[in-house]
Amino acid sequence: MSGNLFGKVFRLMTFGESHGPYIGLVIDGVKPGIPIDRQAIQLELDRRRPGQSKVVSPRREEDRADIISGIFEGKTTGTPLCILIRNQDQRSRDYTHLKHILRPGHAGFSFLQKYGVFDFRGGGRASGRETATRVAAGAVARQLLKTRGIDIIGYTRQIGDVAVKTVDFSQIEKNAVRAPDEQAAVEMVHAIQTAQMEGDSLGGLVEIIVKNCPAGLGEPVFSKLEADLAWALMSIGAVKAFEMGDGFKAVTMPGSTFNDLFYFDSGNQRFHTRTNHAGGVLGGISNGEDLIMRIAVKPPSSIGKTQQTVDDRGKPVKLDIGGRHDPCICPRVVPVAEAMVALVLIDNLLMQEQITRSGELATLRTRIDTIDTQLMLMLARRREIIREIAAVKKREQRDVFDEERELEKKQQSDEFSRMLNLPPKMMHELFEIIIRDSHNLQKETLT
Ligand SMILES: Cc1cc2nc3c(=O)[nH]c(=O)nc-3n(C[C@H](O)[C@H](O)[C@H](O)COP(=O)(O)O)c2cc1C
Repeated sequence: MSGNLFGKVFRLMTFGESHGPYIGLVIDGVKPGIPIDRQAIQLELDRRRPGQSKVVSPRREEDRADIISGIFEGKTTGTPLCILIRNQDQRSRDYTHLKHILRPGHAGFSFLQKYGVFDFRGGGRASGRETATRVAAGAVARQLLKTRGIDIIGYTRQIGDVAVKTVDFSQIEKNAVRAPDEQAAVEMVHAIQTAQMEGDSLGGLVEIIVKNCPAGLGEPVFSKLEADLAWALMSIGAVKAFEMGDGFKAVTMPGSTFNDLFYFDSGNQRFHTRTNHAGGVLGGISNGEDLIMRIAVKPPSSIGKTQQTVDDRGKPVKLDIGGRHDPCICPRVVPVAEAMVALVLIDNLLMQEQITRSGELATLRTRIDTIDTQLMLMLARRREIIREIAAVKKREQRDVFDEERELEKKQQSDEFSRMLNLPPKMMHELFEIIIRDSHNLQKETLT
């Protein structure tokens, strides 16, 4: 199975299944010497883990991140950073009755078509459990982004028919559904519980905003920033649609409304746009405004209601799933989506730094080339004057060697060395070469 790798510079590989002993990840491309806060990784994992409220799966997973390589004395070493998370509360027997049954909405059928084998206990690699590894990796990425002032905020905008009316970031972590609206959160919890009692599940809309995203991230063609973000977010199980900025609403907006007008802010000395319908990306490259994106999350497939389906031989069966499932995935998708956005941003930021750095080097080299050219031209000009001096000496019948003049030049060289802080040894050597050349040239002219 391929497709377990993500990123171009800051590269993540995840592994493991929900009913194996561990899930884990390896990050390649972490710079050395960066302090990593283990507690911050744990906090992110706690935000994703099941069993945190009555509207998510009651599975009890501690989700403890064991960093087994890549960190020494609290700092990255630059070697692959590997994190393991032990699976603790799997109850594989809950799934035995599902072995030969095609579960509607589940990955099992297409896995069987592709591989001929499927770990039916919990969904294998298609399980939401895999996203714990993304969150742990994202927590590392977020720490690197924080040092650059970049902040990622995710929240639930809608669950079923209940949408938020206000957005107050301080409310997000205060309610079980991670909604930025206290009142809407109560209604969302009620909607989920009602659906659950009826043996059903609910979908929703999750919004992610990136504050202080620098301009210049993303490449213009196949690696547009929104393409990378769409890839990252659409790779999360149960995510069915992606929008950037006004997204699908743009269909009905005239250009005169959709266009974000520019202005120059003399306060922070930066260009801005008055609106942000584009969602912070123009031509595939971030423009310095907030990044705004939304994902549609489907209702979980494992529902309490009896469903009519078939087994793997085509025989009709009635399916009662059982197990401990999420009645709505949105509250747990929020930290996963934030993590995926963090991974895209750090990857693009590191790539941009490589470009800027190589740009910087090229500029500096051009400047050195200009100075070297001037030095060579001056050296050539100096030799022309030496020939003129030799002609004068010949006319006046003077010697090539003039002790007083040489002493004067030596003193001049020492003085320059002191004044300009140039290494004396280098100045002496340079002086010797120039004087030797002068002597030779004059001798040539005089004979
Ligand atoms: C955090 C998280 C938790 C999930 N929990 C469940 C669950 O309890 N029950 C379920 O049927 N699907 C759950 N899913 C969704 C499945 O992973 C996914 O929908 C399923 O494998 C089919 O893939 P698809 O929706 O991408 O087609 C969860 C997904 C995530 C990201």
